[in-house]
Amino acid sequence: VIDIRKLYGSTGAFTFDPGYKSTASCESALTYIDGEEGVLLHRGYPIGQLAEQSSFMEVAYLLLNGELPTQQELDDFDYTITRHTMLHEQLMTFYRGFRRDAHPMAIMCGVVGALSAFYHDSTDISDPEHRKISSHRLIAKMPTIAAMAYKYSIGQPFLYPDNSLSYTGNFLRMTFGVPAEEYEIHPAIERAMDRIFILHADHEQNASTSTVRLAGSSGANPFACIAAGIACLWGPAHGGANEAALNMLQEIGTPDRIPHYIERAKDKNDPFRLMGFGHRVYKNYDPRATVMQQTLREVFEALNVDDPVFETALKLEEHALNDDYFKEKKLFPNVDFYSGIILNAIGFPTTMFTALFALARTVGWVAQWNEMISDPGQVIGRPRQLYTGPTERDYVPMDKR
Ligand code: ACO
Repeated sequence: VIDIRKLYGSTGAFTFDPGYKSTASCESALTYIDGEEGVLLHRGYPIGQLAEQSSFMEVAYLLLNGELPTQQELDDFDYTITRHTMLHEQLMTFYRGFRRDAHPMAIMCGVVGALSAFYHDSTDISDPEHRKISSHRLIAKMPTIAAMAYKYSIGQPFLYPDNSLSYTGNFLRMTFGVPAEEYEIHPAIERAMDRIFILHADHEQNASTSTVRLAGSSGANPFACIAAGIACLWGPAHGGANEAALNMLQEIGTPDRIPHYIERAKDKNDPFRLMGFGHRVYKNYDPRATVMQQTLREVFEALNVDDPVFETALKLEEHALNDDYFKEKKLFPNVDFYSGIILNAIGFPTTMFTALFALARTVGWVAQWNEMISDPGQVIGRPRQLYTGPTERDYVPMDKR
């Protein structure tokens, strides 16, 4: 028997909290969530108001700097980000080392991690100016990196950023445009995409943000830390959920098949879960899902789309919200439930969904990383464990085993 007090008592309180369900890992002034009420605030501003009235660049500024920018501050920020959208030319050859059928997230993990090899002139994390430049570089280059991952996967030439365009418009052109042809940005799609980015910008200490903080707590450079965040985001329980949700909705196909899937989700012997449903913190409707559903309607109207998957999603939501199992466990649609349907309507393949999430969440990751590094009391993150292996025993020579 292992005496836990002997092992752990010397460091004060010891808690065992798998999944950190009740443990705060840090203090943060960026994002507030009230999961019971379904409230999400960035620096105090409700997500619904930000999605409706601001832009992704404005939200990025807000998260990084703590206050909404004046027009001049926003113009300056926009200009700075625009100046950093290009990738080092040699990174193009780096892309060519990947297989064409590589998942864009695999490419993004590699390329973002490799940024530290190309931009090591801004990796002295003790210097606030370096931290600022790396942050701007990361936010600015993500659309270029994500669009290039897409272009590479479909065998089309890369498009350089056009810095006369907005952050989001530029991304749309680099993704869907082709060289020597005019690409017309649909204003409703540009607005919807910008709003999707706002909805994904930050979400306090979720798995990928905690990964970025943990990686950064050792003093690792920001490019490496964001690459770690991208890796964590990739999982189907996190950023991969919108891809999984759309696949699930397409598999369900028609509303008459919904009850069968609801029953499967409730069956504890079946690993199937309703993807895009449930959340660690929200025990109410995810406020981002409300905006997402509204945005979906706007995109469908603008593009004149009538996708039966949306009908299936609405019916599935209705069934689940009226089912005792989902009511008791307080399982509601999360941000991923509707986002896949919109992204599909805009023309993104499912493999790009998580890449877009990573692009937008880079703002939150970078802001959280900066907040942590700027804290003079910051220490390396180092969770403890409850050891369950054998107690001390003598080595057994090979011929005695
Ligand atoms: N379908 C069916 N049952 C579910 C679902 C679901 N989507 N989500 C949770 N449950 C059940 C669990 O089986 C568990 O039941 P039990 O009490 O009988 O054991 C109970 O609800 C609590 O679920 P946990 O997994 O313990 O909750 P946790 O906070 O750990 O997980 C998570 C949250 C991972 C998001 C979970 O709800 C899930 O897997 N959802 C589907 C994937 C998804 O949509 N992920 C996106 C999250 S949002 C984001 O990353 C942007």
